[in-house]
Amino acid sequence: MIYKVYDNTDELNREAASHFEEVLTSVESPVLGLATGSTPVGLYKELIKLCKDEKISFKNASSFNLDEYVGLDAAHDQSYAYFMRQNLFDHVDINIENTHVPSGLGDNDKVCADYNAELEKHVVDIQILGIGSNGHIAFNEPGTSFDAVTHVVNLTEQSITDNARFFDSIDDVPKQAITMGLKNIYASKKIILIAMGENKADAVKMLIEDAPNTDAPCSILQNHDNVVVLLDSAAASKLTK
Ligand code: F6R
Repeated sequence: MIYKVYDNTDELNREAASHFEEVLTSVESPVLGLATGSTPVGLYKELIKLCKDEKISFKNASSFNLDEYVGLDAAHDQSYAYFMRQNLFDHVDINIENTHVPSGLGDNDKVCADYNAELEKHVVDIQILGIGSNGHIAFNEPGTSFDAVTHVVNLTEQSITDNARFFDSIDDVPKQAITMGLKNIYASKKIILIAMGENKADAVKMLIEDAPNTDAPCSILQNHDNVVVLLDSAAASKLTK
């Protein structure tokens, strides 16, 4: 795992975008692993710019999102399907048919089984990740097995509180999500993890300095041989090494 610390978040996002650019311009049918939340918004803006400037194209790309809230349909403005259209898909030349976000409204067990089956047919070339303040990646909360595949998760109080900022009230935050498992994420060829802000500093310390353990789901990434971690100085502030 390599990590880099930036004073300037525009530079950080440009660096993240350059890794996607490399994949999009060199792989014939690139498979992208995508995330939602505040963290990847700057990266997606850079990718939209690169696409408008015709430096990259998503025409032959397909994508898999990490997760979706249970109970929100794709038209709900806080669903991750909606987020992806707003923040990326509607602004680039991707074929929407080739994008995958688990459905929050189906039969959960079937949605998970179908998503795993689809993931087994593809290898993600590059995965973008944020990180939760409790060390979650996707919605793999502390205690999740490193062998977990796509599953339904009960969100922790911490994750519900952290995500309440996107909803009118904390009671509106869904209590469950469907998430890719740690094993699915680990199968990506390359992983870019971005963390910004002081409230991520403890999680970043777990990610980089804790021995791999299931209480720190992000620590699984230490075993992966192609992970780039991009941090702002606040997120890196608790690193001791
Ligand atoms: C989002 C996801 C989550 C977020 C994490 C950080 O698809 O899987 O793990 O990356 O909760 O969220 P933000 O970026 O909003 O701080």
